[in-house]
Amino acid sequence: MSSTTLYVLLFLLPLWHGVNARDLCPPGSVSSNGAEPCRDCPAGRYQPYAGKKSCLSCPKGTYQNYGGRSSCYTCPQGDYQPETGKTSCRECPSGSFGRWERATSAATCKKCAPGAYQPYGGRSSCYTCNQGDFQPKAGQTSCFECPPGSYGRKEGATSRATCKKCVPGTYQPYGGRSSCYTCNQGDYQPKAGKASCFECPAGSYGRKEGATSRATCKKCAPGTYQNYSGRSSCYTCNQGDFQPKAGQKSCFECPPGSYGKKEGATSKATCKKCAPGTYQNYSGRSSCYTCNQGDYQPKAGKTTALNVRPDRMETGQVQLVGRHAKSARPATANPTVEGALAIRCAEEDCHSRPPKARHLDSVVFMSGASEVGTNSLRRVFDGGCMASR
Ligand SMILES: *[C@@H]1O[C@H](CO)[C@@H](O)[C@H](O)[C@H]1NC(C)=O
Ligand SMILES: *[C@@H]1O[C@H](CO)[C@@H](O)[C@H](O)[C@H]1NC(C)=O
Repeated sequence: MSSTTLYVLLFLLPLWHGVNARDLCPPGSVSSNGAEPCRDCPAGRYQPYAGKKSCLSCPKGTYQNYGGRSSCYTCPQGDYQPETGKTSCRECPSGSFGRWERATSAATCKKCAPGAYQPYGGRSSCYTCNQGDFQPKAGQTSCFECPPGSYGRKEGATSRATCKKCVPGTYQPYGGRSSCYTCNQGDYQPKAGKASCFECPAGSYGRKEGATSRATCKKCAPGTYQNYSGRSSCYTCNQGDFQPKAGQKSCFECPPGSYGKKEGATSKATCKKCAPGTYQNYSGRSSCYTCNQGDYQPKAGKTTALNVRPDRMETGQVQLVGRHAKSARPATANPTVEGALAIRCAEEDCHSRPPKARHLDSVVFMSGASEVGTNSLRRVFDGGCMASR
């Protein structure tokens, strides 16, 4: 056949089929004569040209997940496909990565190198082991952690030997870390490779961070204490307390009947007796109670106040008691001390207030009295009976 004959045949071909160009099956579809009605190429197959009778299989290293397509997709890096006519690619397994696109064989997947890992399939690269981790083998999905008490500085480490022990005075409670913590003030660690520090015992304290020896723990000085371990300072004994010895966990208390004004006292001698007119029923106090109105205390260092006994008083007798009162005594003179008066009065004396059924044995407390004598009893009662028994 000459080339002219071939040209004429090609030119006449559509007419010979009796088909118009617009009736041809479009790319991605086919039929028995290449014309409408057409069917889509199935997923995994394709047809790039119009008017075709059959579909083509996607070649190795490609895929087509849709029907009716004129081309196939290339398997991405990390995947591969060794067969034709497929609707998807296969993934390089975890612990490996794909080196190029359109790969046709699992052999193109390369194991992650030592010091690297890949937990997922279908990836184009591996991760480098973090600082604090290591991986001696190829093709792994994770790295090992440097154990507690150690750390790793190197990324992509391939050997456990790259994990360094925490130096004395430091610690690391967790695995897989890139550094160690420094022992806090109040703690110490003499050995390398430890997950924690020791605490200075109660009664002592530590000032130094990163201490490597128990000898850095100092005893609390006299006048101070520490009831917890692992502390960087001691508490000062409160007012009312004292501690003569070093290295103690608590202070002693000034006994009842006494008080202490000094913080951090180192001797029991700092506890002072309560003055007359005052008392202290508790230990470890910084002051004493003042006798209430109606009470008195003639001696120092006492734990209670004494009560006025109105039943033992004569009618018309006045006793100066209460605040600043050091004794209960008849106020025959003119008492000028701020305080209270206990008065046993005759019936006719207490007719103002409070007028109770029996006025005999009434006790009256007056505060702020400045000049009261037996002669002016009447005036006092008229002016202010404040309480009665
Ligand atoms: C230790 O002493 C402190 C300060 O005095 C106090 O607040 C704390 O309750 C004490 N703890 C114990 C367990 O005694
Ligand atoms: C100690 O004295 C105070 C003040 O007088 C009083 O309130 C307290 O109840 C007394 N405590 C005891 C245990 O006697």
